[in-house]
Amino acid sequence: MSNVILIGAQWGDEGKGKMIDLLARTSHYIVRFQGGNNAGHTVDIGSEKFILHHIPSGILHPRTKCVLGNGVVLDLEAFFDEIKMLSKRGVSVRGRLFVSERAHIIFPYHRLIDQLKEERKGGHKIGTTKKGIGPCYADKANRLGIRVCDLMNRRVFDERLERVLKEKNLILKKIFNHRPFSFNDMHRTYAKYRNRLAPYVRNTSLLLDQADRQKKHILFEGAQGTLLDVDHGTYPFVTSSNASAGGAIAGTGIDPSKITEVIGVVKAYTTRVGEGPFPTLFPPGLLRHIQERGEEFGATTGRPRRCGWFDALVARHSVLVNGLKKMAVMKLDVLDELPKIKIGVAYRLRGKRYNSFPADSEVLEHAEPVYEEWPGWQKPTSSIRRWRDLPIQARRYLKRLEVLMGVPISVVSVGSKRSQTISVDGSLV
Ligand code: GDP
Ligand code: IMO
Ligand code: MG
Repeated sequence: MSNVILIGAQWGDEGKGKMIDLLARTSHYIVRFQGGNNAGHTVDIGSEKFILHHIPSGILHPRTKCVLGNGVVLDLEAFFDEIKMLSKRGVSVRGRLFVSERAHIIFPYHRLIDQLKEERKGGHKIGTTKKGIGPCYADKANRLGIRVCDLMNRRVFDERLERVLKEKNLILKKIFNHRPFSFNDMHRTYAKYRNRLAPYVRNTSLLLDQADRQKKHILFEGAQGTLLDVDHGTYPFVTSSNASAGGAIAGTGIDPSKITEVIGVVKAYTTRVGEGPFPTLFPPGLLRHIQERGEEFGATTGRPRRCGWFDALVARHSVLVNGLKKMAVMKLDVLDELPKIKIGVAYRLRGKRYNSFPADSEVLEHAEPVYEEWPGWQKPTSSIRRWRDLPIQARRYLKRLEVLMGVPISVVSVGSKRSQTISVDGSLV
C-alpha cells in the first residue's frame, strides 16, 4: 500500500502531468486536492498530447479512478468541456470520476471579478490565469462560497445564489461600473449542471478512506507549485490555495498518518509564468533559446514562461515545507546545447548573504544570486534511458543538485514522452 503526494517544487509547470501519468500505472486512485482549471498538466502518450486542467492526469489509464477533492475549486463549464474532449478522444470517465460534495464552485462572477481586478491593478497585477480562482477561494474563506452539495439542494442553492448575487452585483456596479448578472439566467444554467453533475458527486473523504482500507494505492496530484502556495510561496504573487503537501491533507480529508511519501518535481532549470520575483532569470538571449527549446509557453494561457537557472534555495525551501524525500528532475534535455550551466546557490543583497529562501518580497526582487558554474555536456540526451549512459557532465550536474537539495533524484526526464524517462533508483518508475 502506498499513498503518495506529488508536488511541484518550483513555480508550477515542472512536468507534474508527465510524472502523474507514469505513476498512475501503479495507482488505483488519482486525486486533485487544490486549485482548479488554472492548472495545465500535459501528458504526452507518444501518438498524441493531452492537456488536463481539471481532471486528474491519471485519467488516461483506463483502470484508474479519479477524484476532485474538497479543496478543489470547480468550474462546471470547464469540467464538462474536458469530459467532452476526453470522450471525443476515446477516454471514458464513466464510473471512475468523482467530485467532492464539499468542493466550492467557480461562478461566472468569480471569473469576471478576477479579470476586472487584474485590469484595475495595472502595473501591480498578479498575472493570474483569470479563471476566477482567487475570488472563489476568497468567497470560501469569507463564507460566501457555494459548494457542490449546495448546488445539489435546489432550495439551498436558490437562496444562496440570490443572496450572493445581490452582493456581487453591488460590487460590480459600484466598483467596476459593470452590468449585473441575472439571477434567472444563472439559476437556469445551474439547474442543468445540477442534473449533469449529480452522478459524479460523492463524499470523497469517505471514498478515499474506504480505498485506503482496501489497500488501494492513492496518488495525490499537486497543481501549481510550492512557490505559488498562498502560505509558502512568493506572496502576493501566488495562487490562492495550498499547493504544498499540507494541501493534500486539508483538501481531501485523508488521515495524515496514511501518507507514505511526498515526492517533488523540478525542472533542471526554473520557469515562471505570471508576475513576481525571479532571482535567477536568464539574460534575454539565453531566455529566448530555452523558451524555444523547452517550448516554454503556458499550457493554460499560452503566455511565454520566464526561464532561469536552477535555484537551489527554491528547491531546498520546497524540500523543507513539503517533507520531500525524492525528486524527479524534468527537462534535462532542454539544457543539452549549453556550454556552461549555472546553479543559484545563495542570494546576496546589501552585503548580506541569504542561504535560505527569504519571505521578504523586496529582498527577492533585488537580491543578486550567487552562482556556481558547471560545464555543459553539449550532447543530445533525449534518447538516453539509463543513468550510466548520461554524459559525465550531466551526471555531475545532477549529483550537485542532489547535494544542494538534500534529497536523492529518483527520476530524470529527457523528453515529454513516457518512454523518455530515466529511472535512477528504480523506486518510482
Ligand atoms: P505541469 O503543469 O507540471 O504538469 O507541467 P506542464 O504540462 O504545464 O509543462 C511541462 C511541459 O514540459 C509539457 O509541455 C510537457 O510535455 C513537457 N515535458 C515534460 N517533461 C519533459 C522533458 O523531460 N523534456 C522536455 N523537453 N519536455 C518535457
Ligand atoms: P500547473 O498546475 C504555473 C500562476 C499564474 C499567476 C498565479 C496566480 O500547470 O503547474 P491564479 O489564476 O492561480 O490566481 O494565478 O499563479 N499559476 C500557475 N503557474 N503553473 C500553474 O499550474 C499555475 N496556476 C496558476 O500564472 O502567476
Ligand atoms: Mg502546467
